[in-house]
Amino acid sequence: MLTGMDELKQKAAHEAVKQVRDGMVVGLGTGSTARHAIVRLGEMVVRGLDIVGIATSVESERLARKVGIPMADINEYEVIDITIDGADEVNGDLVLIKGGGGALLREKIVASCSKKEIIVVDEGKLVKKFSFPLPVEVVPFGWKRTADKLRAFGFTPQLRKGFVTDSGNVILDCHYDELGSPEKIERAVNNLPGVVECGLFINLADEVIVGKREGVERLKQ
Ligand code: A5P
Repeated sequence: MLTGMDELKQKAAHEAVKQVRDGMVVGLGTGSTARHAIVRLGEMVVRGLDIVGIATSVESERLARKVGIPMADINEYEVIDITIDGADEVNGDLVLIKGGGGALLREKIVASCSKKEIIVVDEGKLVKKFSFPLPVEVVPFGWKRTADKLRAFGFTPQLRKGFVTDSGNVILDCHYDELGSPEKIERAVNNLPGVVECGLFINLADEVIVGKREGVERLKQ
């Protein structure tokens, strides 16, 4: 039995998978919304759809294999035809904050290699002004010193306790009052020694499919 919000996530995910065709290499996102897409793709594979999946996390890889999607390593494919992933917040310019589930690094690598990146969200994720703490993946060595540098940018970084990413790093969830220019923040944060990647996704989403009570809405670049 799906909760109200989960139903909206499912609506968006099910709409997105309609764009998947035979022969495609498909990027599989991470999180509770992308999960709906993976499960539906598994059903489509059972009915004969011929695709290869590239996972953005160990968790999604496990689920995809369980539902019967043939999986490959990203190093085997130069281009991914289509990726379906979730997001924590989306603004009107299709800038995203991702990483609530801690998979932002692999998600960004996969997004950057995808011909089409479709983001699936429920309507609660659409915002005028970002407020979701910005996840920043940092190497464990000297993470407190990296946090000091993020603090100097006006963030209040909080270590995500007991969490290690699929690449063996930690996440600092960076709280803020006002995020400011996403481009400048991404450049500055990613330039810090110790930072592997931040959860700002700029010019990566080609289409955002929003699950709403009354149907789905599409936002395009
Ligand atoms: C995973 O690291 C994230 O980027 C997810 O895509 C994001 O947190 C959305 O997750 P939900 O669909 O569970 O809200």
